[in-house]
Amino acid sequence: MFKTVDKEYLKPSVGIGVIGYAFMGHIHSNAYSKMRYTFPEVSLYPELIAAAGRNEEKVSAFAAEFGFKGYYTDWNELIADPDVEIVDNCSADPNHFASTLEALKQGKHVICEKPLGLDLKECEALVEASQYSGSKHMTCFNYRFIPAARLARDLINAGRIGRIYHIRACYYQSPGYDPAASAEKVWYCRPERVGIMQGIGSHVIDLSRFLVGEIKSVGGLSRTFNTNRRMADGSSIRVKKDELNIATVEFESGAIGTLESSGISVGYRNRNEFEIFGTKGSLKFSLEDLNHLDVCIPEEQSADIAGYTRVSVTEPFHPLQCLYLPRGHNQGWEYGHVHALRHFLDCVANDTTVEPYGATLIDGYRVQKIMDCLFEASETEKRINIRYK
Ligand SMILES: NC(=O)c1ccc[n+]([C@@H]2O[C@H](COP(=O)([O-])OP(=O)(O)OC[C@H]3O[C@@H](n4cnc5c(N)ncnc54)[C@H](O)[C@@H]3O)[C@@H](O)[C@H]2O)c1
Repeated sequence: MFKTVDKEYLKPSVGIGVIGYAFMGHIHSNAYSKMRYTFPEVSLYPELIAAAGRNEEKVSAFAAEFGFKGYYTDWNELIADPDVEIVDNCSADPNHFASTLEALKQGKHVICEKPLGLDLKECEALVEASQYSGSKHMTCFNYRFIPAARLARDLINAGRIGRIYHIRACYYQSPGYDPAASAEKVWYCRPERVGIMQGIGSHVIDLSRFLVGEIKSVGGLSRTFNTNRRMADGSSIRVKKDELNIATVEFESGAIGTLESSGISVGYRNRNEFEIFGTKGSLKFSLEDLNHLDVCIPEEQSADIAGYTRVSVTEPFHPLQCLYLPRGHNQGWEYGHVHALRHFLDCVANDTTVEPYGATLIDGYRVQKIMDCLFEASETEKRINIRYK
C-alpha cells in the first residue's frame, strides 16, 4: 500500500540563489542537493529558489536539472527576489565584484567563489560593504573543508606537531605546458579568466594561512613563459597572465615556507599538496590522495616504527565525516564544497561566525593582498612586508 512520507522531520529551510551554471554552479548546486540526507543534524536546509545566467536555454535547463523553482537571466533580479536569502556567486571572475556588492547592499547572506575580486580595490570595497550589510559572508576556499586538511589543522592547534618551522605547499596543473597548445585550451589564457596565481595559487595561500597562521612578508618570482599563443583559427594573442609563481613567505609565528602555483607542470592535472615540519612532528597531504594524511610524531610512536603513518581520515571521530559513509569509504573532491556550504548554512541558522573554519571576505581580501605583494616582489626583486588594512 502506498503511504505518503511524513514530512514532520524536515527542518526549516533557507532560500538559495545561485549565479552561474558552469562547473561551480554544478558543484555548489550538487552540494545543496546532498545536504538533506548527508547531514541529518544541519539546522537549516537549503531550498533551491533560483539560478541566474545570461543564456536562457542553458540556465533554464540547469535550473530544471537541479530542481530550482525557477531562473533569471539577470542576476540583479535573482538578488532582489525576496525568497532568496543566500546568494551563492558561482559566476565568472569578472562578475564577482558587481553581483557580490549588490547582494551585500541588499543585506543578503553571500558566498563568493574565489578570487573574491579581480584586484585589491574590488576586494577592499567588498569587505567595506560587508561591514554594513549585517549578513554572513564567505569566500569559497573549499580546501579548508577537506577532512584531511581539517585534521592537519586540528593536530597543529592541539600542539601535537609542536612549533611550526616550515611549510612547503604547491598547486600544479598542466594546461599550458606545451607552447603549441591553443589559447582556447589553456583556461588562464581565456579573457574571462584570471591568471594562475588568482586561479589556483589563491587556494595554496589561503590553505597555508589556515594551517600556519597569517603571512607577514613575501618574496619570490612570477613568470609567463608563453607570452604568445595561437588561437584555433590560426590568429595569435598576447598572453599577460602569470603561468608560474614561487613565493617565499614568512608567517607571523616565525615559520617560513614556499608556496608555488603553476599551469605548466606537465604530468600533473590537479596536484595540490602541502608538507609541514614542526618541533614535534610533520604532516603531508596531497589532493591526489585526499582521504589520507601522512603524520609523523616520533614521541607518539615506538622507536622501531617511528616515521610517517598514513592515516585514512574516514573514521567517525575524524572531522567532516558523512554519516552514510562507513570508515574506509572515501569522500571525493566535491565534498570540500559540501562541507563548506554546510558550514555556511549552520552559521546562518545559528548566527555563529564563519571564521575560523570558513574563509570570510576579509580572508579573500588578505589573499589578494599577498598575491599583489608577490607580483610586486617579483617585479622589484625585493621582499615585501605586508600591511593589511
Ligand atoms: N573553488 C573551486 O574549487 C573552484 C574551481 C573552479 C572555478 N572556481 C571559480 O568559480 C567561478 C566559476 O567558475 P566556473 O569554472 O564554474 O565557470 P566560468 O568561470 O567559466 O564562469 C562561467 C559562469 O559564469 C556565468 N556568468 C558570467 N558572467 C555572468 C553575468 N554577467 N551574469 C550571470 N552569469 C554570468 C556564466 O553564465 C557561467 O555560468 C570562477 O570565479 C572560478 O574562479 C572555483
